[in-house]
Amino acid sequence: MTDLLTHLQTRRSVSVKHLIEPAPTGKELEDILKLGTRTPDHGKMAPYYFITFEGEARVAIGKHLRAAYEADNPDAPVAKLDLEAERFTRAPLVIGVISRIREGKHPQWEQILTSGAVCMNIMHACYAHGFAANWLTEWYAYSAHFKEALGLEDARDHVAGFIYVGTPADTKDERERPELSQIHTRWTAETKALNKGESYNRDGYGLPRKGFQLKD
Ligand SMILES: Cc1cc2nc3c(=O)[nH]c(=O)nc-3n(C[C@H](O)[C@H](O)[C@H](O)COP(=O)(O)O)c2cc1C
Repeated sequence: MTDLLTHLQTRRSVSVKHLIEPAPTGKELEDILKLGTRTPDHGKMAPYYFITFEGEARVAIGKHLRAAYEADNPDAPVAKLDLEAERFTRAPLVIGVISRIREGKHPQWEQILTSGAVCMNIMHACYAHGFAANWLTEWYAYSAHFKEALGLEDARDHVAGFIYVGTPADTKDERERPELSQIHTRWTAETKALNKGESYNRDGYGLPRKGFQLKD
């Protein structure tokens, strides 16, 4: 693998369309998951768990994807249901990272942050092992039907990510990144206003339009 700095400077996700065999298996996959657990975690609550889908399991889960999609889209044509059922077969390995709120004195927000950081560590670990990955959620991460079929508890368990993993058949060009000067404030006692990224080109960044209201 390239050195860490070069990796961080150049890393890109690789679309599921371009993730082909082989993917990590066995000991190598276990190592990637272990590296995922090497993530800061306030209170050592391990507020996450993993579900992996390999080989035939990616096909078998299709039954639940299909049923979940149909439950929310009762008029969906069979061809669309067939397509939805194949989601997990797009790459040779899918790692589900599930955020699980644990009981304890540490804030739920921080537990959720840890799960996101676990996803990113797993992404890095995949690349360190010579693979590529794509962190997705897509509709089924939010489907109550699908969550139940998988065995997730609706209120406590949330999909932090389905990380699709494989060997890159293609690489991506760099994409636009936020302009640091717009999101960074070097605070001093004279600072009047923080740079909050509010002056971005909103179309470029897909930021909320004027009049946006925060929801609970
Ligand atoms: C939590 C989370 C969920 C995402 N879900 C999706 C998704 O459902 N569909 C999609 O096309 N991209 C999704 N993305 C974006 C992809 O991961 C995208 O490839 C990535 O932002 C590219 O970033 P990179 O250039 O830094 O690798 C998601 C990203 C995150 C962090």
